[in-house]
Amino acid sequence: MNAPHDTAIMEGAEALTHVHRSLPHDSAERHVTGTAVYIDDMPEPQGTLHVVPGWARHAVRGPLLAMDLDAVRNAPGVVAVLTAADVPGLNDCSASFGGDPVLADKEILFYGQVAFAVVATSRDAARRAARLAQIDVGPQTPIISVEDAIAADVTVLPDYQFRRGAPEAGLASAEHRQSGTFHVGGQEHFYLEGQIALAIPGEERAVQVHSSTQHPTEVQHVVAKVLGVSDALVTVDVRRMGGGFGGKESQANQWACLAALAARVTGRPCKLRLDRDDDMIMTGKRHDFRVDWSVGHDNTGRIRAVDMTFFARCGYSADLSLGVVDRTMFHADSSYFYPDAQIRSRRLRTDTCSNTAFRGFGGPQGMLAAERMIDAIAITLGLDPLEVRKRNFYDWARNQTPYGMVVEEWQTLHTIVEQLEATSAYWQRREEVRAFNARNHVLRKGLALTPVKFGISFTLKHLNQAGALVHLYTDGSIQLNHGGTEMGQGLYQKVAQVVAEEFGVTLDKVIITATSTGKVPNTGPTAASSGTDLNAMAARNAARAIKDRLIAFAAGHFHCSPETVVFANNQVRAGTHVISLAELAKLAHMGRVHMSDAGFYASPKITWDRESASGRPFLYFAYGAAASEVTIDTMTGEMTVDRVDILHDVGRSLNPAIDIGQIEGGFIQGMGWLTTEELVWDEQGRLRTHAPSTYKIPAISDTPAEFNVALYASPGNPEETIYRSKAVGEPPVMLANSVFCAITDAVASLRPGTVPQLDAPATPEAILKAVQAMRQAGGAR
Ligand code: MTE
Ligand code: MOS
Repeated sequence: MNAPHDTAIMEGAEALTHVHRSLPHDSAERHVTGTAVYIDDMPEPQGTLHVVPGWARHAVRGPLLAMDLDAVRNAPGVVAVLTAADVPGLNDCSASFGGDPVLADKEILFYGQVAFAVVATSRDAARRAARLAQIDVGPQTPIISVEDAIAADVTVLPDYQFRRGAPEAGLASAEHRQSGTFHVGGQEHFYLEGQIALAIPGEERAVQVHSSTQHPTEVQHVVAKVLGVSDALVTVDVRRMGGGFGGKESQANQWACLAALAARVTGRPCKLRLDRDDDMIMTGKRHDFRVDWSVGHDNTGRIRAVDMTFFARCGYSADLSLGVVDRTMFHADSSYFYPDAQIRSRRLRTDTCSNTAFRGFGGPQGMLAAERMIDAIAITLGLDPLEVRKRNFYDWARNQTPYGMVVEEWQTLHTIVEQLEATSAYWQRREEVRAFNARNHVLRKGLALTPVKFGISFTLKHLNQAGALVHLYTDGSIQLNHGGTEMGQGLYQKVAQVVAEEFGVTLDKVIITATSTGKVPNTGPTAASSGTDLNAMAARNAARAIKDRLIAFAAGHFHCSPETVVFANNQVRAGTHVISLAELAKLAHMGRVHMSDAGFYASPKITWDRESASGRPFLYFAYGAAASEVTIDTMTGEMTVDRVDILHDVGRSLNPAIDIGQIEGGFIQGMGWLTTEELVWDEQGRLRTHAPSTYKIPAISDTPAEFNVALYASPGNPEETIYRSKAVGEPPVMLANSVFCAITDAVASLRPGTVPQLDAPATPEAILKAVQAMRQAGGAR
């Protein structure tokens, strides 16, 4: 673990021991041996009851006319049945603008909405009982698709837009103008650990909730509101999640509320673990979109003006759709300069589950629409798409985004793409693909190299803050706590490395503890990829405050100057004295020095004002690029990803192994979104793809045959982030746009000059349809 400084690099004059090193995830061994404790693995307190949500299995939307729960109440093992009438406080667990009932009241809003909850002695008994409900819902024609909602003109939030220059004039005067409509599908999170919460009632009206949530503070707040108690009576603890991917940023709320409500009503510990099908039916997903676009460009493919409208399917409530769709708009430029632009959005209300955060938070959909426009330009002009991409990149002069923020690091984008062009042998392989396609009628290859530029920071300014709590004990061990949550991404490990570095101790001295609202209050969600940026800074600030007091104490105790006090190798040197950190801690305790601190951090420079659509929403951008090669079978629509080369920018990596894991995982998850994961609702609004039998996430066998992932040799984040690193959680998802563009390229080879009719996801069925459309259009080879 603490081997020589193999990958240590120098920061200033100081040799760094624990950061910039590929150390294993703190729970790696426990993950693979099955000893990492998730909520369902925790020993259940005596008398624990089990909660199962019940719903109207035949209804979509309509008034709740009658609910007969007698048979449910009388079923074996049932202790209580909860309905809206049992809520002592506010019956709403919304993360934002309200409108998310914990239990349906007077109306069913979508297929799968929780109408009641069964509390029983076993989960099996509760599940059987839940099936016995008789629920009568009045008929109503549901609004399901984006098209339905556009026709009905219903939204969950007001329309919003960015505008620069005179896009109408720009479009009218451009040498070429083209437009299209593009559909981008949603995505189910498919976290391995489903939604779960365990609530343990305390004295008076206190409750402790173990929740699988990315946002413990919010769970605390909504539980308090639902129970009608003060925030201080509710404590939320999260040791780890078995994946969140955005699906537990707001949507862990309802399950925690139901468990806490059941605990209040029964006075016993209550656990709710959603069944996988129920989880898929009831919880929100990545937003799907219709994008209407028009672009004006010149003969070289350079964009003159764009007009894009994003129609988002938000579901029955607002949830996080304000921020998600704003991020779509912030990324509708991908890496391209639009001289004149109009970027509009509509947040449509549908009678379906409420769509929510999903890795990339709307950004991937915006970027994919931009790539589709670029592909359309390249195909119609007969140019290589990479050439057109590069011609439109931000540069030294053309560097302002449509929302006004300047892309200061445009050079990084150019360098990464140049390097990847070389290492992936793009131009040579372009010739090989061309030759392959000239020889083959059935199998076709496609190649694409696409960029990533992803804004880092919450666009809701107040969320860009974090707290940490660090204790130094008198044996020299350190207890570390912060507001960030661990969902597999390695946040705990990275923050521990930073704290070990600060105290000059080996990592075994830093004890990681579960996130708790009782230790660090008033946090934001662990999201927007900013977990490390925020929490590592807060933890470092806490460690530094303790260290400063120890330095002052040691200088006085050993009669040396504070500058000579150095922490390294589990020891402290003070002048000519060398003692262990444990000995110093003991001495300091006897000297009555405070050895605990609560650190805080708020990101600088963020000034975004949504009202006036001006200011700087992001502290910086993370960059990357990917080159993907695919083969499609034009007889069956089957597709394989043959080779992927990735070069990704994480600044100066805090932990290269973890970062590469995030890049690989993010890419594969993005590839699944764009190729095999398809959500299907029928006309009655019932989700038909609610299990792995019908919803296909990537398997290990879908990994590209050749998969080369490298970190960009960055001189460091120009912004003063923790050890000049960059966030890595979400940006790699968008590297997968290269797969979609490569498929487009393969289909386009069938009829040069014609833009394929291909929407996302490019499933075999969609590819086959696009191929047939090309061949039927005549002239196909
Ligand atoms: N990696 C794993 N293994 N599991 C996850 O649930 N969530 C992603 C990403 N990487 C996720 C993950 C999402 S949506 C975000 S926003 C970030 O991790 C959150 O963590 P961070 O801010 O610490 O990067
Ligand atoms: Mo990630 S979608 O910001 O939780």
